[in-house]
Amino acid sequence: MTLYLWCKAFHIIAVIAWMAGMLYLPRLFVYHCAAEKGSVQSETFKVMERRLLRVIINPAMIAAWVFGLWLAWLGPDSPYGWFASGWLQAKIVLVLGLSAVHGLFARWVKDFAADRNRHSQKFYRIINEVPTILMIAIVILVVLKPF
Ligand code: HEM
Repeated sequence: MTLYLWCKAFHIIAVIAWMAGMLYLPRLFVYHCAAEKGSVQSETFKVMERRLLRVIINPAMIAAWVFGLWLAWLGPDSPYGWFASGWLQAKIVLVLGLSAVHGLFARWVKDFAADRNRHSQKFYRIINEVPTILMIAIVILVVLKPF
């Protein structure tokens, strides 16, 4: 039981760090769009985006998955843990969606780094809402466990 609770504590810490980055990175993209290519501002945004992705978002996502799957496996009184529960299956689908958005963000960081951004400010403002919506649904699923 203690192991389960420690796992849950680190899962929540990882999820907070992952979400902080996933909510902040598209805001950086919005401001980066307004900065002229080659300007000091644009180069600064490149460094901020790369560091946020590599130092926070990538490791936090890996930790959230590792501790989340560990929790699912340890689940209440095992042997197959939470895996048979509908709420966890639905949650995993949504988290796969969040991980796909993460992959798109990583691609856009590369595009900005090469001065090859192809999207508008408005596009990034809209995309900014996707992680928020997924996070709300994921937290409701795991806390209420409606099915
Ligand atoms: C990466 C894949 C993930 C897996 C496999 C996973 C799985 C789990 C499991 C099995 C639990 C334990 C539930 C319990 O003890 O009642 C848990 C707890 C939790 N998860 Fe995840 N999770 C993942 C990602 C996420 C994400 C992305 C979020 C938020 C955006 C999140 C938020 C939470 C919260 C807040 C709890 C604590 C719920 C409570 O104690 O009532 N998880 N997770």
